[in-house]
Amino acid sequence: MKAKVITIANHKGGVGKTTSAASVGCGLALKGKRVLLVDLDAQQNLSFTLTREEDPEASIYDALVKDEPLPIVKVTENVDLVPSSLELARAEIDMATKIAREGILRSLLEEYADSYDFIIIDCPPSLGIVTTNALVASDKLYIPLTAEALPLKGLTMLDDVVREVRKRVNPNLELGAVFFTRYNNRKLNKEVVTMIENRYGDKVFKTKIRENIALAEMPLSGKSIFEYDRRSNGAKDYMALVEEILERECK
Ligand SMILES: Nc1ncnc2c1ncn2[C@@H]1O[C@H](COP(=O)(O)OP(=O)(O)OP(=O)(O)O)[C@@H](O)[C@H]1O
Ligand SMILES: [Mg+2]
Repeated sequence: MKAKVITIANHKGGVGKTTSAASVGCGLALKGKRVLLVDLDAQQNLSFTLTREEDPEASIYDALVKDEPLPIVKVTENVDLVPSSLELARAEIDMATKIAREGILRSLLEEYADSYDFIIIDCPPSLGIVTTNALVASDKLYIPLTAEALPLKGLTMLDDVVREVRKRVNPNLELGAVFFTRYNNRKLNKEVVTMIENRYGDKVFKTKIRENIALAEMPLSGKSIFEYDRRSNGAKDYMALVEEILERECK
């Protein structure tokens, strides 16, 4: 079976993109799936969380900009990573003059379609050429949200990008899921959830990732949430999310 490619994106910062990429990726691996995680953010949070390495020998930048092969490092059983580097901050400029620049990541990943069950891409908090590369390469877009006031305006922007990508370069791209992270039971949260459910219907995952200290500590531990504290609410919530993903994506 060909790998299902999922981009986790939201141009709003700090909504749980990277935490979700790491936790969903490692959770799927625990369920026996072969997973490739791709770090597309110059902040390197995903790479550092999984490898503790700040200065990888080769990074996604080299592949996107210098036409080098995709660097893949093994993280654990069933989990591989394409690391990012600080240089990636320059990619928007360096890629601007390249021909067919939106499709570079797609052609790099095509070669690995048979090697993995899931390819999960963590995006930077912006909607430039790098995020567009992720969307062009993907089957599904997953949007993590925090249930703060007024996220709808930001979502409209993402909707526009999805529409544009579908129209121009990747008609197969689907909005796969919207899910809440850093959730607690305050009244505001509930109102926002209702608003989002009215707009996105069954695209909204049932599982909500609660605000959880173990998830906040996890990046510094160098372990996945399942190794760091498998009894935490964070581990339970992400495993429930993984089960929902498997139900929807592996029908
Ligand atoms: N459910 C949670 N409970 C508590 N802390 C969380 C939770 N999810 C994420 N965090 C913490 O919140 C911060 C932001 O999360 P994360 O880095 O995953 O967001 P992001 O969307 O990738 O951010 P950026 O836009 O900067 O890439 C991190 O410090 C992370 O450890
Ligand atoms: Mg991030």
